[in-house]
Amino acid sequence: MKKLSGRKKVKTAVFISGTGSNLKNLIKFSKSKKSTISINLIISNTSNAKGLKYSNQYKIKKKIFNFKKNNEQIILNFLKKNKINFICLAGFMKILSKKFIKNFKGKIINIHPSLLPKYKGLNTHEKAIKNKDKFSGCSVHYVTSKLDSGRIIMQTKVRISSKDNATSLAKKILKKEHKLYPAAILKIID
Ligand code: GAR
Repeated sequence: MKKLSGRKKVKTAVFISGTGSNLKNLIKFSKSKKSTISINLIISNTSNAKGLKYSNQYKIKKKIFNFKKNNEQIILNFLKKNKINFICLAGFMKILSKKFIKNFKGKIINIHPSLLPKYKGLNTHEKAIKNKDKFSGCSVHYVTSKLDSGRIIMQTKVRISSKDNATSLAKKILKKEHKLYPAAILKIID
């Protein structure tokens, strides 16, 4: 993936399902001089995703797709038409199919709110607290057909205090995610 960019910013789509704080953060990063990506598309599986508002705010094209197998080719065609070369999943709660991932091999990354390989899937903060872990954190990793299992690009550790509950821990980790995601992108696209 290194040298993917050359001098031009790599055309990127961000996939979201919810609030979109990572999306907002990535948009801000993409506008900075040091960024190696530009964000050209926001894709969501639901029209309820709050983060879709950033489409208007930052004048970035958005599109909502039903992520069902029979729809996949339409999504792929749309990404191709928009010359998208890189995909960042940011709070995207659908699992992409093998075929979809194959079409963007090594070019889809995800941010996950745990220290992978610990706590793949959902409710990561609840699990870390329940297990009395001293640390949790966030990971940026390549997306493969195995859920939350692709090669880890970068991680940040966060200390869990005895006062933490799932909500406070999620908040602490999200703050770290906003630093980690751009750093991980710069690590793989220089
Ligand atoms: C983030 O904490 C992200 O790591 C997590 O959802 C949140 C989205 O927040 N992603 C997953 O759990 C993926 N399985 P945001 O919409 O404010 O960026």
